[in-house]
Amino acid sequence: MTPLEAFGAYETAALAAIGNAQGPSELEAVRIEFLGKKQGRLKDVQAFLGKASPEERPALGQRFNEVKDRVTSAFEARQSALAQPETLATAIDLTIPGTPVRIGREHPISQTIAEFKEIMGRFGFTVDDGPEIEDERHNFDALNIPFDHPARDPLENFYLATAQSSAGPVLLRSQTSTVQIRVMERTKPPIRIVSVGRVYRPDEVDATHHAMFHQMEGLMVGKGVTMASLKSVLRLFATSYLGGDVNVRFRPSFFPFTEPSVEVDVKWKNGWLELGGAGMIDPNVLDAVGYDPEEVTGFAFGLGIARFCMLRHGITDIRRFYENDIRFLSQF
Ligand code: DAH
Repeated sequence: MTPLEAFGAYETAALAAIGNAQGPSELEAVRIEFLGKKQGRLKDVQAFLGKASPEERPALGQRFNEVKDRVTSAFEARQSALAQPETLATAIDLTIPGTPVRIGREHPISQTIAEFKEIMGRFGFTVDDGPEIEDERHNFDALNIPFDHPARDPLENFYLATAQSSAGPVLLRSQTSTVQIRVMERTKPPIRIVSVGRVYRPDEVDATHHAMFHQMEGLMVGKGVTMASLKSVLRLFATSYLGGDVNVRFRPSFFPFTEPSVEVDVKWKNGWLELGGAGMIDPNVLDAVGYDPEEVTGFAFGLGIARFCMLRHGITDIRRFYENDIRFLSQF
């Protein structure tokens, strides 16, 4: 066999073996056989160079290097091809039975809110939500809360130190009653809306109080809206959410923005549980938004959302809602 024949035979065999290697370990065996430095087939063909005459040697050496380079490149190309991840079709065995993946679920407060909106929707109330950062006009002034009212004490509210709106100081709203004003300012009666969202008060946190909680505000304004309308709507609402036989009670109370005002309780176990406040919109409030109190009347109510949810599910501590404990949340 001439040296050139030997080079050709080596190259053909090497390229075939490289192409046939099916995995990194097979390819490594091919490398040792064909490109091993100490022994193997490369050494055998190199031996031809040693036997060549000095005149032949430079040309033969060059051919040898070319062959070796081609085999080395083929080896490297195959190596990186085998290192690629398997294609999707071969990487996933579609015949293996699947395992169910647990997806998240809606927070119990969100579930309650959705249900509240749905129930009130049946009574013809649409949803109109307002901002959580408010000015004093919407949180206090227009709601007939006088400047010296204790509810305006900076220590009873989360005033924002840096932000200043063109309307003066701003705060995190302490009640959703703010939305009454916003809606009446931009709409003409008749109005029938609910507004649901977070409110903030620097209260001491305990089993029934939190510094951030949710309220649903209701507002109905029009000709001939009376206290009887208010009581019917609230009774229907409580019955719809809590079940057919709930006992709702209205107690005389006071709020600056309603006259008369009531507090709404529901019978629970051996006592009464307060659900929120309500009343007939004070004529001063109707005035403040440009309505004629001689022409239209209205009622409003503000209910704590967590209370309802706690009643229905037997939850005894409001803090559970905000701890993000999956063992609690996954029960709803
Ligand atoms: N905003 C009151 C509160 O947070 C609740 C309330 C009372 C809302 C009477 C009303 C209302 O709309 O008429 O304590």
